[in-house]
Amino acid sequence: MNPFDFPSAVDDKATRARAVERARANGVRLPTFAELAEPWTVSADATGGLEAVDPDAPDARNLYRVNWFNDLSRAKRAAVPVHIELPSAFTGVPARIVVALGALFPMIRAHKVLAAYACLAPRLVSGRFDPVKQRAVWPSTGNYCRGGVAISRILGCRGVAVLPAGMSQERFDWLDKWVSSPDDIVRTPGTESNVKEIYDACADLERDPGNAILNQFSEFANYLGHWRCTGPALGAAFEAVAEKNRGGRLAGYVSASGSAGTLAAGDYLKGKYGAKIAVVEAVECPTLLMNGYGEHNIQGIGDKHVPLIHNVMNTDVVIGVSDKATDGLNAVFNTEVGRQYLAARLGIAPQLAQMLGYIGFSGIANILGAIKMAKKLRLTDNDYVVTVATDGHELYASELSHYLKRRHNLGDMTRELAAELTGEHLLGADTDWMIEATGFDRERIFNLGYFTWVEQQGISVADFDRRKRQDFWTGLHALVPQWDEMITAFNRDSGMATAA
Ligand SMILES: Cc1ncc(COP(=O)(O)O)c(C=O)c1O
Repeated sequence: MNPFDFPSAVDDKATRARAVERARANGVRLPTFAELAEPWTVSADATGGLEAVDPDAPDARNLYRVNWFNDLSRAKRAAVPVHIELPSAFTGVPARIVVALGALFPMIRAHKVLAAYACLAPRLVSGRFDPVKQRAVWPSTGNYCRGGVAISRILGCRGVAVLPAGMSQERFDWLDKWVSSPDDIVRTPGTESNVKEIYDACADLERDPGNAILNQFSEFANYLGHWRCTGPALGAAFEAVAEKNRGGRLAGYVSASGSAGTLAAGDYLKGKYGAKIAVVEAVECPTLLMNGYGEHNIQGIGDKHVPLIHNVMNTDVVIGVSDKATDGLNAVFNTEVGRQYLAARLGIAPQLAQMLGYIGFSGIANILGAIKMAKKLRLTDNDYVVTVATDGHELYASELSHYLKRRHNLGDMTRELAAELTGEHLLGADTDWMIEATGFDRERIFNLGYFTWVEQQGISVADFDRRKRQDFWTGLHALVPQWDEMITAFNRDSGMATAA
């Protein structure tokens, strides 16, 4: 499907009718984007009994937890997105760094389920996806495809995960339990940065009309889902912290990029608060910084290309973080010895030490990116930088023991190693591997996308170039209320308008 051919009306009535019937049969009421952004607006009729539903169950009511307002139990709603405010003793910078937690999202314990829902819903309600005849194919490095498989299962259609064979074991364990057939897990060669191989597998699958590819790297719905939901949620977290601290300004937003969906929140935050947008990538695969390539272990990011939905010309800072730092700090943050060291040496409260478990590899990269940004821009204690932890440590527990064994020949963390890793990677975070992007830098990065999207993936030059202008991106916003109207009409027709 051409990603610029946005669904904006019902294109195929017969397909939509089958989708409506399937939703009715499975008791699925689809949330609108507005309801995901502002879950308190959902009527009690629609979400009655939600608190009793297991957040990890394939239950249609869990669609109403696909938002940033789940509390730490993941069962109830929080007034403000749950976040961690990192103290200066921990970050080494006066600026205040605020991290929102993606691990509280339902079913997959990562916010990528929001991207998956955002990509499928407009297709479903416009009759462009047939849940009866088609399989939904989710190309990913692990979390988006899990989100897609969860959404597919709720909708009663088959979902296919396409991901590199080298991703963490925890991702495969989860998929084994959720897919309807082992054939619905397609393992592609390589690890994190082998996205070209994922595209090749999808091109093969797409030859069969029974497969619908939902490519997060080029679906503007991924961009819009984060712009509409993640942006305002992070704004709310910032405002709550700023109010507590008597004011201040939102100086920056930091997000590592995989599909660049999460980065879209930056467009919202820049528009509302003037925050600068920083993108993080792995030093070992410095594609945006220097057209580079390579392998790394910051799972979920840095895919050796510039996604079609990355608004490059609105990106202000590019930051490289090494996977040596994320692997090392993952071991400090998630071992008893490491946490004790942080408490003794940096005065970190036990409660905060506990919360570090909510931060996976890319979340650690984002925190280091925020620290580097604060140093480079000389941010003060009046400045805030917000960022996200897409998932938590639980998805990488197997990586920790490999790391200690492989890199340090140790079975367990020691105090000496914790001190070394904290000193080198946390307190020692510097301003190397960073650019404050000039117009020239932005164009260089923008142009790099040409080779993927025009040469390999068949996007026209005119469409590719349209994305250079900001009015292209702001023009997309009008799609969201249209999609919401179509979702509402779909729920009416399925008889699920007031019940979930
Ligand atoms: C753990 C993790 N972090 C970060 C990202 C990047 O997010 P995005 O694809 O929205 O850029 C992903 C994407 O799958 C991820 O799984």
